[in-house]
Amino acid sequence: MNETTALRGMPKEYFIRSMELFRDGHRHNDTARGMSQFAQPLTDAEIETLANYYACDATAQVANAQPKEVSSQ
Ligand code: HEM
Repeated sequence: MNETTALRGMPKEYFIRSMELFRDGHRHNDTARGMSQFAQPLTDAEIETLANYYACDATAQVANAQPKEVSSQ
């Protein structure tokens, strides 16, 4: 069973808060400190860019996509 959270579609505010908590040393549930090391050098702008990327649910766009009309002419 997958025990980790999905990043895709994660609300932007939650994503940013989590990244800041790891980066600034206020969240410690990454046993090997991998997440803190990853987040540590990120700027606020870089975190926001990542948040925008993951918050965008690409599958919704695919699900709503309409097939293009095929012309027989
Ligand atoms: C593109 C790279 C990464 C992104 C965007 C990312 C993002 C995140 C976010 C947003 C969370 C919070 C999830 C939540 O609160 O539900 C998280 C948690 C975590 N990340 Fe990362 N992460 C990345 C890379 C890494 C790496 C390289 C490691 C370890 C080597 C790592 C280890 C963890 C751990 C252990 C947690 C805690 C999981 C939990 O609370 O259940 N992450 N990550």
